[in-house]
Amino acid sequence: MALSLCLLAVLRGLVLKLLLFRIAVFTTCVASHAHDVQPFFHDDESSELLQFKESFVIAHTASRYEAAYPKVLQWNSETRNCCSWDGVECDEHTGNVIGLDLSSSCLFGSINSNSTLFNLRHIRMLSLADNNFNHSQIPAAITQLSGLTYLNLSGSYFCGQVPFEISNLHMLTYLDLSHNYDPDTSEKFLQLKNPSLKTLVLNLTRLEVLYFSYINISSEVPHSFSNFTSLRWLLLEDCELRGAFPTKIFHLPNLQVLVVKHNENLSGHFPEFHERSTLLELGLGHTGFSGRLPSSIDKLDSLKILGITGCNFSGAIPHSLGKLAKITELRLGKNNFIDPIPSSFQNLTQLTFLNLYFNKITGSIPPWLGNLTKIEVLLLSENKLEGPIPQSVSKLMNLDELNLCLNNLSGFLEFDMFLNMKSLTSLQLGYNNLSLVFRKTNTNATMSKFNRLGLDFCNLTEFPNFLGYQNKLEWLDLAGNKIYGQIPKWVLNTSVDTLMGLNISSNFLTGFNQKSIVLPWVNLRLFDVSYNMLQGPLPIPPLSIQEFDVSNNKLNGEVSHLFCNMSSLYEFNLSKNNLSGMVPHCLGNSSTSLSVLSLENNSFHGVIPQICSNSGSASSLRLIDLSHNKFQGQLPRSWSYCMMLEGIVVSNNQLVDTFPSWLGSLPELKLLVLHHNGFYGVIEKPKMDVDQFAKLHVIDLSSNNFTGVFPSHYISSWNAMKSVESNGWEYMSAKWNDSWSNNSRLSNTDSYYKMTITSKGVDTIYQVILDVFAFVDLSNNKFEGEISDLFGKLKALRSLNLSNNMLTGCIPLSLGNLTYLESLDLSRNKLSGQIPQQLTQLGFVETFNVSHNNLVGLIPQGNQFNTFDASSFEGNRGLCGDQLFKKCATSSSSPSPFPTAEKDDGDSECLVKLVWGFVLAGYISGIVVGVALADIMINRRALSGWLRSYLTKMGKRN
Ligand SMILES: *[C@@H]1O[C@H](CO)[C@@H](O)[C@H](O)[C@H]1NC(C)=O
Ligand SMILES: *[C@@H]1O[C@H](CO)[C@@H](O)[C@H](O)[C@H]1NC(C)=O
Ligand SMILES: *[C@@H]1O[C@H](CO)[C@@H](O)[C@H](O)[C@H]1NC(C)=O
Ligand SMILES: *[C@@H]1O[C@H](CO)[C@@H](O)[C@H](O)[C@H]1NC(C)=O
Repeated sequence: MALSLCLLAVLRGLVLKLLLFRIAVFTTCVASHAHDVQPFFHDDESSELLQFKESFVIAHTASRYEAAYPKVLQWNSETRNCCSWDGVECDEHTGNVIGLDLSSSCLFGSINSNSTLFNLRHIRMLSLADNNFNHSQIPAAITQLSGLTYLNLSGSYFCGQVPFEISNLHMLTYLDLSHNYDPDTSEKFLQLKNPSLKTLVLNLTRLEVLYFSYINISSEVPHSFSNFTSLRWLLLEDCELRGAFPTKIFHLPNLQVLVVKHNENLSGHFPEFHERSTLLELGLGHTGFSGRLPSSIDKLDSLKILGITGCNFSGAIPHSLGKLAKITELRLGKNNFIDPIPSSFQNLTQLTFLNLYFNKITGSIPPWLGNLTKIEVLLLSENKLEGPIPQSVSKLMNLDELNLCLNNLSGFLEFDMFLNMKSLTSLQLGYNNLSLVFRKTNTNATMSKFNRLGLDFCNLTEFPNFLGYQNKLEWLDLAGNKIYGQIPKWVLNTSVDTLMGLNISSNFLTGFNQKSIVLPWVNLRLFDVSYNMLQGPLPIPPLSIQEFDVSNNKLNGEVSHLFCNMSSLYEFNLSKNNLSGMVPHCLGNSSTSLSVLSLENNSFHGVIPQICSNSGSASSLRLIDLSHNKFQGQLPRSWSYCMMLEGIVVSNNQLVDTFPSWLGSLPELKLLVLHHNGFYGVIEKPKMDVDQFAKLHVIDLSSNNFTGVFPSHYISSWNAMKSVESNGWEYMSAKWNDSWSNNSRLSNTDSYYKMTITSKGVDTIYQVILDVFAFVDLSNNKFEGEISDLFGKLKALRSLNLSNNMLTGCIPLSLGNLTYLESLDLSRNKLSGQIPQQLTQLGFVETFNVSHNNLVGLIPQGNQFNTFDASSFEGNRGLCGDQLFKKCATSSSSPSPFPTAEKDDGDSECLVKLVWGFVLAGYISGIVVGVALADIMINRRALSGWLRSYLTKMGKRN
């Protein structure tokens, strides 16, 4: 049989996703037979085939393989002999059609059980791969082709449940239903639920190849596979497999390819190998496989590819791995491997790809490295490697990508060693303790042309000269160095046609050496110069710009109208500069991509632009931060059309408006910070019955002029604050839009939400906020009435500040349910009654303040309450207890179930309260809520840009 010959003769290609490679194999088989022109044929089979042809249209987009062509075009009724037709193979003795290869034939249309295809009863090999059957089900009539040994329906837009009838095809040795998915979204079209995988394969014991990648299988891997002794390839990539992988499968005597990668819920471990194995490729990456690599792994001495990236393997990498002399790809990244790289790796001379990134590997980079002359990609980033980078690296003349970032490598590094490595295009050395030395002052023709260069945190004090000769750079990262002064003119001439990303943030740059600056890079997408000392006007990027971050500089002047034309602008961050003037109002009209608008801490004035006023414009806006400026007027009502909006921060401006109840229906709004403006008036209860602000986590209305009773309807609809369930402890951020998360994006620096919480007059800045945290601050207004019981339902509250209002009544017992509360400030109101004993249940970290009210009775004792000092309670004449060094009179110390309100002393006391308010503003306590988080933020800066970008990249390539 041609087929099995083929299968035996052609070792499977090393890159498994090459569906097309497999098609090519089959094509070769059939083609070799097409030469033996058949003397006879079956007329009925010719007409079945012609009818089959007629049931489709030819569409070149139906096939993805570049060499695809419509084979059926030359089928016609003049040459009745179908045995001579392209893709058709006949038995040389009987003349029956026994093989049909219509792979990559540009067929488009539906197929069902009525198709004449299923009348070709003698057929043994059938490939319809790489066509578009328009989401048809696999027809049950396939069961009529009971002689099939080879069936390939991959990549053809088949949809729905895989029919039970396939399990009747007992003769099958090759079965490929893979890649019936949406190539853009990876949505799987086929599923194997009923029958399950186990049932389907029960009788297919002759299988040599089973290729089911990208089918939604959602079950365990059947143990019965360990009886399939003929099995050579088992490919189940991304099938939503779960449970434990049957270890016996590793021991199948003929197994060559085992790929179960990208099944996160599949667990498993390596067995000990007692006999030599035929395995060529093992792909277990991105699964729950764990344990150690056994030292008997050297029995797999045919192995060419070992991929276990993104599993839970631990322990040392066994020395014996170095005996797998044929190995070309070794992917061990993102595990928990410890100890140094085994010296035996120097014998892996066939290696072209080695990844060990994101482990805990120690020791130095071994000088063996120079032996691996075929290596093209070497990724050792994010480990604990130390010592110098060995000179032998410069011998790796095929090396294309070298990533050593985020280790503890140190010492002086002669950078010129890289300049003669002609294949090297991507080099990442950032986040080590290296000191780079540049020798050649005038290096030109012979040197490497980089397209990706990460020299961040490399102790550079000036722009390295060699950059002036680089004309192919796409990404350049020099962040976190000590480059000071003006940016030299030649830097602005480097790689003007190619550069897409430039990150020179966190240096000591002062300017651009010229008056007005139009950035010269025509394809620039990311420009990050944040955290420098740049002065002068705002630089103007090209229209291609996506991320523009000039925050934390000293830029001045106005924002040019030219920014309105930048239709791909995604992040526009001008925060913390000296910019002034009005923000161009066209900014809101033009850009549909704008997602993060950060203008905080400048001197902008005038009314806020009407963003989202046109349908579609700025519809992706997620975060708008205008705080600490001089904006005037009202909040633009058009914001109610920014349906993606998650964060609104307008604190410290001069806005005068009523409460923006019209934002209540924004479905994603999590953060609303209006602190320190002129918002005023009674907040009306919402007009609509539906939940308002249901996703809100943070609301800060403090230091405004709100009056009246805060409507409890709002409190009861803050559903997000009632849940303490986390999505995995993420920081709240403007997540990048999915459609952007392709390779065109440079970094995935999500814009994290931040906020300031004022307690006892001290501002605490939260640079990141965990998604489970909730904060409510209504302080410094003129709210009246009682504190709503409903606050006790907001389980996720970390901080509740109602201080400095005119609240009356008692402290609700329900506040004792807020077990996550870390700060409670009710001071400077007119609260009366006793402090509820229930509050001792609160797990306060730090702040509790009920001072300056009309509270009475014994201060609760026990738990955290014993740690609060007098300042938490003072100014309440009727309170007594140890904290105030004031003994209670016997009568008031007996807890009374009914709080007794004490009469307000009148205006005179209110005046005193006000004065004290100013004095106490200087009192420092500072709350501890998430201080650790604030620290993380400082490091977040350090982790900006490149790191993230290549982590993303690495995630993709593995
Ligand atoms: C198959 O053909 C029969 C008769 O021509 C028709 O009634 C039936 O609907 C067809 N089935 C499908 C699935 O198209
Ligand atoms: C498998 O084969 C046995 C015996 O031929 C038969 O009874 C059974 O129904 C078959 N099972 C499937 C799932 O085809
Ligand atoms: C393997 O086959 C043997 C003999 O037919 C049978 O007893 C055993 O149950 C099978 N094992 C599995 C896991 O199906
Ligand atoms: C490399 O292979 C040779 C020959 O098999 C062997 O003698 C040597 O010990 C190996 N080197 C290391 C470091 O394992």
